[in-house]
Amino acid sequence: MSPTITCADLSVTLPGAAGPVDILRGVELSVDNAELVSVLGTSGSGKTTLLRVLGGLLPATGGEVRCDDTVVTGPPEGVVTVFQDYAHSLLPWRTVRRNVALGIEASLSRSERDDRVDEALTMVGLLDRSAEYPWRLSGGMQQRVQIARALAMRPRVLLMDEPFGALDAMTKASLQDQLQQVQELTGTTIVFVTHDVEEAVYLSDRLVVLRGSPANIGLSLDIPLPRPRHQITTKERSDYLELRHRVYEALGHTVGEPARG
Ligand SMILES: Nc1ncnc2c1ncn2[C@@H]1O[C@H](COP(=O)(O)OP(=O)(O)OP(=O)(O)O)[C@@H](O)[C@H]1O
Ligand SMILES: [Mg+2]
Repeated sequence: MSPTITCADLSVTLPGAAGPVDILRGVELSVDNAELVSVLGTSGSGKTTLLRVLGGLLPATGGEVRCDDTVVTGPPEGVVTVFQDYAHSLLPWRTVRRNVALGIEASLSRSERDDRVDEALTMVGLLDRSAEYPWRLSGGMQQRVQIARALAMRPRVLLMDEPFGALDAMTKASLQDQLQQVQELTGTTIVFVTHDVEEAVYLSDRLVVLRGSPANIGLSLDIPLPRPRHQITTKERSDYLELRHRVYEALGHTVGEPARG
């Protein structure tokens, strides 16, 4: 299968207080069609920077990013980014329905648009809240509205930056499972940034760990756990636990000495 996204020898240098700082150097990454790849790394390692470059929101300083073989020089068609900060990405004066329609208003007829919005809201389980204003919804629901907005655009590639980072464990688990279902239904290619090791192993076909300063890919790990995955049984499997162990080690955690009394 040909990759949808490729980074070749990608470098990013950003201005710092004391001059230019190399954030990413020599990143090689390819993401296949319909693959879900997670990007892990400690805070400040460059995950958001990488996602912004993949989405054409920030130019590469060296090397290149390609989407479907075309060099990315701005946001490519069919690539949609979901940010962590849902509160600032929804428009408070628009209903849920009109927030979800935001990305397709200019391009579709009214009836096509309505169908797409219904479909996207159904996928995230919020069709019955479509007439509400987003600020009347819980944080998890607001994040689902943002995801529905992205889905309504029928993206080929979804770039997600810690989309469940601010949510409680129960809501997070339920959104992880909704994302699995949506991906199974739509075959969307997903790059999923997270700092949550369990989430990355649970969701991914493959995960990569950013390491070093400037960062590059320190570990690339296939996650061959069977699908559909289940919050309880998948996380009890010995291969899940082994994969999780390897990722923690790659992030610099070690199994500590037992506490001495
Ligand atoms: N616009 C910017 N200008 C200059 N430096 C930046 C800019 N954005 C990020 N950086 C720097 O780039 C480095 C990587 O930041 P980035 O936001 O990509 O990290 P991250 O892995 O997403 O971290 P977190 O897990 O905390 O979200 C940091 O040192 C940060 O200070
Ligand atoms: Mg970040």
